[in-house]
Amino acid sequence: MTEAEAPSRELRRRYTSADLGVFTPEEARRFVQGDGDPQNDVVLAWELLYRLEPELYDRLASAERLHPGVVGWLPCGVDRIVEVGAGTGRLTMELIGRGRHLVAVEPALPLRQILERKLAAANHGNRVRVLHGFFDQLPLADDSADLVVACSAFTPSPGHGGEAGLAEMERVCRPGGCVAIIWPNHLSWLAARGYQHVSFPGPMSVEFGSYADAVELAEIFYAKAAGEIRRLGERSVPFEVLGLNPPRDLAFKVLAG
Ligand SMILES: C[S@@+](CC[C@H](N)C(=O)[O-])C[C@H]1O[C@@H](n2cnc3c(N)ncnc32)[C@H](O)[C@@H]1O
Repeated sequence: MTEAEAPSRELRRRYTSADLGVFTPEEARRFVQGDGDPQNDVVLAWELLYRLEPELYDRLASAERLHPGVVGWLPCGVDRIVEVGAGTGRLTMELIGRGRHLVAVEPALPLRQILERKLAAANHGNRVRVLHGFFDQLPLADDSADLVVACSAFTPSPGHGGEAGLAEMERVCRPGGCVAIIWPNHLSWLAARGYQHVSFPGPMSVEFGSYADAVELAEIFYAKAAGEIRRLGERSVPFEVLGLNPPRDLAFKVLAG
């Protein structure tokens, strides 16, 4: 289970169908399914979170750090990297030093704004561009990247990637380049499409900013764990306590040269 699949009733309760007006038509077409009620659809609730409470999302993502082995595994010293679904930059900020040019694609305007703010503070020498786009509609040329990567964003569902999204990532990646899905949620789906799996071992914890932050964020995102977090009384909480698989996995494919 990835963060966007965690069954948080409290997150769903934050929003109603009256909030759907925040989506652009192309977002609504991808994200609003069925009865369009976020109280019945946690994936839709996450999309509303990105647009209505982006700073809250950023506090969570900043605490859920990737295993250093995941970032260390990615190609380094390459010319062009594309990240899709970059969010507020959990992975993006780590990619800056790994390629000469980095393009971060992100559909949600409020998340792009937070990412732009972080990039402005990072002094990256104009190496990074932030663009609007979707997995299934990337504003990038064929064969234009050495690495195309997504972190906690791609899923097999059409609104969040699917067959069309994977084909787009592979279209943008040059022959001999690498497409990587970090923190994948459906390994067998990716394996059936030629993706190999790598996992990095070792204990991993969510590093909340403070104990108070841990309790506040857990009550929204991992309500079942809030009692245990109070009992532990620490700002650092093992992923197992939250019932969330840690971000220690990636799936990748090197495209035929
Ligand atoms: C859980 S967040 C992860 C963000 C960031 N990659 C990280 O690791 O912190 C999922 C991200 O995927 C983006 N996303 C959702 N649907 C998308 C789509 N169809 N195409 C591209 N990005 C999408 C969301 O806007 C959000 O930024």
